[in-house]
Amino acid sequence: MSVNVTEQYPNYSPGLEGVPGGLTKISDIDSDRSSLQFRGYDVHELAEKCTYEEVAYLLLYEKLPTADELHAFRDSMNRARKLPGEVSAALRMAPRHLHPMDQIKIAYTMQAGFDPNYGHEDKGSNIRKAIRIIASAGTIVAAGHRLRHGEEPIDPDPKLSTAANFLYMLTGNVPDEATEKLFDSTLTMYAEHGFNASTFACRVCVSTLSDVYSGIVTGVGTLKGPLHGGANEEAMRMLLEIGSPAKAEAWIRDALVNKKKVMGFGHREYKKGDSRALWLGPRAKELGKRIGNPTWGQIADTLEKVMLEEKGLYPNVDFPAAFLYYNLGIPIELYTPIFVVARVAGWSAHAIEQLENNRLIRPKAIYTGEKNVKFVEMKDR
Ligand SMILES: CC(C)(COP(=O)(O)OP(=O)(O)OC[C@H]1O[C@@H](n2cnc3c(N)ncnc32)[C@H](O)[C@@H]1OP(=O)(O)O)[C@@H](O)C(=O)NCCC(=O)NCCS
Repeated sequence: MSVNVTEQYPNYSPGLEGVPGGLTKISDIDSDRSSLQFRGYDVHELAEKCTYEEVAYLLLYEKLPTADELHAFRDSMNRARKLPGEVSAALRMAPRHLHPMDQIKIAYTMQAGFDPNYGHEDKGSNIRKAIRIIASAGTIVAAGHRLRHGEEPIDPDPKLSTAANFLYMLTGNVPDEATEKLFDSTLTMYAEHGFNASTFACRVCVSTLSDVYSGIVTGVGTLKGPLHGGANEEAMRMLLEIGSPAKAEAWIRDALVNKKKVMGFGHREYKKGDSRALWLGPRAKELGKRIGNPTWGQIADTLEKVMLEEKGLYPNVDFPAAFLYYNLGIPIELYTPIFVVARVAGWSAHAIEQLENNRLIRPKAIYTGEKNVKFVEMKDR
């Protein structure tokens, strides 16, 4: 944004930076303390002590579940994991080259029509839709991936958690406990994050009194971009391009000289470090050492050091998530879809919160074009 524009329009904040977009009780980002809380609970503690299901429950029902409530919630999730046959058929019919995020939009759009709560817009119906949306996300992503690669989808196993089921439906192997816990904690980290672009887009959508499924599809489309969810995939491609720790310093200095955006660094809200990256970074590096592949963690150390020295920028969640997922053997094209698997909980909670106290979201535009132009007849143009 040129200096002239900000001087000319002092009330305008490009990208709405710093502009409050609404009220929420779902999560709080404290930029100065690099802290993130979901409904008042610190995300680090949630990742350590809870499962993703408990976190999803917390986001939807505004409280942590009791053991019985969690049991019932897991049961409802398990009943909703399997896709209606028609949704699987739609995924099968989609072109193989389709971006996985576009596959997800197709699946949810189709699934809306098979949801028994379709057309009911009260809070109870919307929570039931949300449970179906959250439960089926991993099934959609895993089935879509297998179909794109010419493999048959694997049915969800009702005995498994959201995290374990996703890895199982992807590979056919049930993960060990440590892998399940680590992957589960990344879902918690990705579950919710204030008025980010996709959540705000989801809230804008439902503020028109559209429906929760439309809000989710809007969120998926918005998350796809590399400045948002797509950054985790780009970050891993960058690490692969660098290739070895010995090349890292020269690569990053060259990138900065050439004014390249370094994916997985910087954040609109956190200026002293992303709370989620602070938690995930050491664990991603530790996993690499444990499995005998410390390369990505070593490259990461160099990039983090130079980015801080030269630009004052810290890694965001997408940076450690990228090499953590890579070291778990997850295909790169699934990193942003995994973000969806987690974030559907946050989007659903926001859609429900928006509808509880709704006002159409409709900001004002500052018109900068010409005015009162004399009409020119076709023959004279
Ligand atoms: C996340 C992001 C969009 C936030 O952007 P923002 O608040 O609009 O900040 P800006 O893009 O205006 O950046 C401010 C300055 O830092 C620089 N900067 C920000 N992120 C950077 C990055 N990842 N690599 C290099 N420079 C970066 C910008 O070039 C700009 O420098 P300038 O003032 O010299 O022009 C931005 O940091 C980015 O594009 N990061 C990479 C994508 C990414 O990881 N996204 C996931 C976010 S969770």
